[in-house]
Amino acid sequence: MGTTIVTAGKGGTGKTTIAALLINQLSEKGTVLAVDADPSTNLNLALGMPLEDTIGQVREEMAIAVKSGAYDDSVAKPDYIEMKIMESLVESEKIDLIAMGRPEGPGCYCAANSMLRTSIDRLGKNYDYVVIDCEAGMEHVSRQTTRDIDILLVVTDPTIRGVIAAGRMKPLMKEIRTHVSQIWLIVNRVVDELPAEIEASVKENDLDLLVSIPADPNLAAIEIKGEPSITLPSDSPLQVSIKDIINKLGLK
Ligand SMILES: Nc1ncnc2c1ncn2[C@@H]1O[C@H](COP(=O)(O)OP(=O)(O)OP(=O)(O)O)[C@@H](O)[C@H]1O
Ligand SMILES: [Mg+2]
Repeated sequence: MGTTIVTAGKGGTGKTTIAALLINQLSEKGTVLAVDADPSTNLNLALGMPLEDTIGQVREEMAIAVKSGAYDDSVAKPDYIEMKIMESLVESEKIDLIAMGRPEGPGCYCAANSMLRTSIDRLGKNYDYVVIDCEAGMEHVSRQTTRDIDILLVVTDPTIRGVIAAGRMKPLMKEIRTHVSQIWLIVNRVVDELPAEIEASVKENDLDLLVSIPADPNLAAIEIKGEPSITLPSDSPLQVSIKDIINKLGLK
């Protein structure tokens, strides 16, 4: 069974960029399932992978077919969902990508959602790593998976407010049913040294700092051209930090 890693945190802190670079570097070590759990669906762009269907579309199609009576009962619903998930999976040599798409509409999709989670969790068993990029906010983590999370990476900017928000993650994880083995804080876009005030706040909020990542001057040019984040040169500060993360977490 592979290692499940989740990136979470406030909006715009660098979750997707970090997830993409991590996925890319981990793919040199083993097979990776990349899960885009953000409804705005942009992990594929950061990875430079094409994307056609999302799981949201699969759920929607099934709900409509069941409601209108067009659903073919000769195929069991879990099997149908599994087939559709396989169809929407974007495959490459070492990385496969799946996008969750928009969350459910006003109707009740509980049964479909639970089938979806089960299928995705089963799919994840085929990989060495499953990396899930969450949407902004702390509360979405539990929705994405029924499996245990091995490593939760909470990304923040170097602000007191950001660190306080990240500090809410630990008690939140205790409240929900998802079991999380490790919770680490990443402070991203640090200019020069990590300010002493931020370091103190990290301790006050009972957080464990994994790394602080420098503001990377090479990223802006890539973003302007709309190129994938993973094209960052391997000696650029962000790539070096990701390598550091992999070493510190002991991922092999
Ligand atoms: N270390 C860094 N140095 C410079 N720019 C960075 C760094 N990390 C991320 N960025 C930039 O910050 C912006 C937001 O990054 P990203 O999209 O990864 O954040 P996010 O947390 O996934 O956002 P959202 O909450 O919208 O999903 C992007 O333009 C990205 O290029
Ligand atoms: Mg994002």
